[in-house]
Order: sequence, then structure tokens, then C-alpha cells
Amino acid sequence: MNFKIREMQVSEYGELENFLYEAIFIPAGAVKPAREIIYQPELQIYIKNFGEGPADFCFVAEVENKIVGAAWSRIMNDYGHIDDKTPSLALSVLKNFRRAGIATALMKNLLEKLSAENFQRVSLSVQKENLAAIELYKKLGFKIFNENESEYIMIKKILQ
Ligand SMILES: CC(C)(COP(=O)(O)OP(=O)(O)OC[C@H]1O[C@@H](n2cnc3c(N)ncnc32)[C@H](O)[C@@H]1OP(=O)(O)O)[C@@H](O)C(=O)NCCC(=O)NCCS
Repeated sequence: MNFKIREMQVSEYGELENFLYEAIFIPAGAVKPAREIIYQPELQIYIKNFGEGPADFCFVAEVENKIVGAAWSRIMNDYGHIDDKTPSLALSVLKNFRRAGIATALMKNLLEKLSAENFQRVSLSVQKENLAAIELYKKLGFKIFNENESEYIMIKKILQ
């Protein structure tokens, strides 16, 4: 599949809502929540006033002029938060475009950007049942940092 990775333009930030919704992990057999769930405060922190924070960066994958995936970073008090200097990451790729290397390419671009911006490490949270994402993050060099009953927090050092 031919795709192009680029930074999301400010005029496209509204599309983060879709990718936030797609980033919600749905366990096998579970019903997808209503889209309104993204307006809950614990999800809004991923996207509200995006662009204003010092670690607000987003890369998108484009196929035939359509955005089909996004990876973004932000210092925020989300599930993956470890301290006030470490950006947390969020990621999703539309269903029909998965397994083509898009998430890997998005994450590599985002990690390079954060490294160039002098962030020391990044973190994220992932549901323990989300084996696809855990596999992807391990391949990218993320290590488990902490866990609770249902989630891992994983981190990756990006500056030595
Ligand atoms: C997880 C997700 C982002 C992966 O996107 P993707 O573009 O398909 O990922 P890639 O093609 O770059 O996959 C890279 C590697 O991750 C692993 N992987 C990805 N999807 C997988 C799956 N369904 N099952 C098992 N391993 C998987 C594989 O090791 C894969 O390498 P391979 O294809 O050479 O075997 C995508 O499935 C998604 O958007 N899921 C829903 C939202 C989500 O879970 N976001 C993360 C929340 S923490």
C-alpha cells in the first residue's frame, strides 16, 4: 500500500476526534461505545486545544489524499502519564489500512520529532488485551514500566 507520512496541519486538527475514537481499544466480542464517549473529560485531554502544549505534535498517514492514521503526543495527565516532562502518545489506523506498516512509520516519525525537540523519553498506556499494539510497541523498543489490572504503561528512552 502506498502511503505518505507528514505532520498534521493545524487546519486538520478537528480530525483528531475521529482518530481518538478509533484509538479506543474494543476487546473481541465487545460492543463499540457510542462516538460521544470522546467528549468525556478523560478522553478530551488527548485533543482539547491541541497545538497549544509544548509537546503537541501529530503525524498522519495519507492514502490518496485521505488521512487514514494518526499518531500524536502531548504532555497530559492521561492513563500513560509518568511525569510532567514526558509526553504520552496516542495512535490509531483506520481498519482497512492496518497491517501495512502505517503505525510503525507514524510512530518512527513522531519519535524522531520528539527526540529532535529534546524530550528524553515518551510513555503510553495500552490495554493488556491489546496484543496487536503491545507487539507493535515492543518492536519499536518500548518496555513495560508499570501496570495495573487491565493496562500496561510502557516507556521508551529517545535521548541517551
Ligand atoms: C494497533 C494499530 C495502531 C496497529 O496499526 P498497523 O498500521 O496495523 O500496525 P503495523 O502495520 O505498523 O504493524 C506493526 C507490527 O505490529 C504488530 N501487529 C499489528 N497489528 C497486529 C495484529 N492485529 N495482530 C498481531 N500483531 C499485530 C505486528 O508485529 C506488526 O508487524 P507485522 O505486520 O510485520 O507482523 C491498529 O491495529 C489500530 O489502530 N488499532 C486500534 C486502536 C489501537 O489499539 N491503538 C493503540 C492504543 S494503545
